[in-house]
Amino acid sequence: NPETDALREEIMRLKKDKNALIMAHYYQRDEIQEIADFIGDSLALARQAAKTDADVIVMCGVNFMGETAKILCPDKTVLLPDTEAGCSLADSCDPVKFEQFVKEHPDHTVISYVNTSAAVKALTDIVVTSGNARKIVDKLPEDEKIIFGPDRNLGEYINCVTGRSMLLWDGACHVHDRFSLEKIDELKREHPEAKVLVHPECRRPLQLIADKVGSTAALLDFARSDDAPEYIVVTESGILFEMRRQCPEKKFIPAPPDEPGCMCNECDYMKRNTLRKVYEALRDGKPEVTVDAEIAEKALRPIVRMLEMSE
Ligand code: 13P
Ligand code: SF4
Repeated sequence: NPETDALREEIMRLKKDKNALIMAHYYQRDEIQEIADFIGDSLALARQAAKTDADVIVMCGVNFMGETAKILCPDKTVLLPDTEAGCSLADSCDPVKFEQFVKEHPDHTVISYVNTSAAVKALTDIVVTSGNARKIVDKLPEDEKIIFGPDRNLGEYINCVTGRSMLLWDGACHVHDRFSLEKIDELKREHPEAKVLVHPECRRPLQLIADKVGSTAALLDFARSDDAPEYIVVTESGILFEMRRQCPEKKFIPAPPDEPGCMCNECDYMKRNTLRKVYEALRDGKPEVTVDAEIAEKALRPIVRMLEMSE
């Protein structure tokens, strides 16, 4: 449509003028993934932010992704097209309550999922993403006592695959925590050749029926290298755009949530960003992500530790 074309052209022009890099998570709207310079999972977005020489980063994702980029690149301008793009999982971990939990377990190493506020990261020893959590936990001594927050489903998954008994914070993502096992079983009966791809933020029974459990990037890699003709995708449906682009000959079926009439799961926070908001952010140089200097300094250490340990 002509309006979209005009916005795209303007975005391309402004991007050059301002030496800006547009980064997008796989859950972003298709039209944003189309214009992004870089698309990735949370780990890849953090890695890319750490190494870019752009002056401006437009983070098309949610707040914690913008904060992580800003903490890694304090001298760069980091723009988040919509400041209301939060995360229910990050919100399920209040920093004051988390600090209390940490204090109650003084001999524990604190591991936090990247889906947390900067204030929670500042209380953390090592940050992880779903793409490196297993690898990082495996590198710690076997008898190390660990607190893991805030996602209980990812925590349970890591406990199962590593044989650890990390203490888990009781948080969850409103998108991943509501997939319906019954509806996925039904889809499996309708599509007997389909393999099931599950994000580890989903509940344990869903992890157990998966052919592959992994981060968005890991699920995409699996679909690309595997030979099944069909996949039932149990994560936010934005990932289907890149899956279909990379594997046009395969069929990807979004898994439905446990809600009548609803066919696929969308993260309303991720979908707050639009092409127009990306254009306006580039044009106006705002909304800019800011992180309190003291918190940023404390939060940087566990993020750098993550990047080092996941090499
Ligand atoms: P990934 O790191 O797997 O991309 O997940 C990010 C996220 O927000 C999942 O809901
Ligand atoms: Fe947060 Fe869930 Fe949205 Fe991911 S899908 S950004 S975990 S609310």
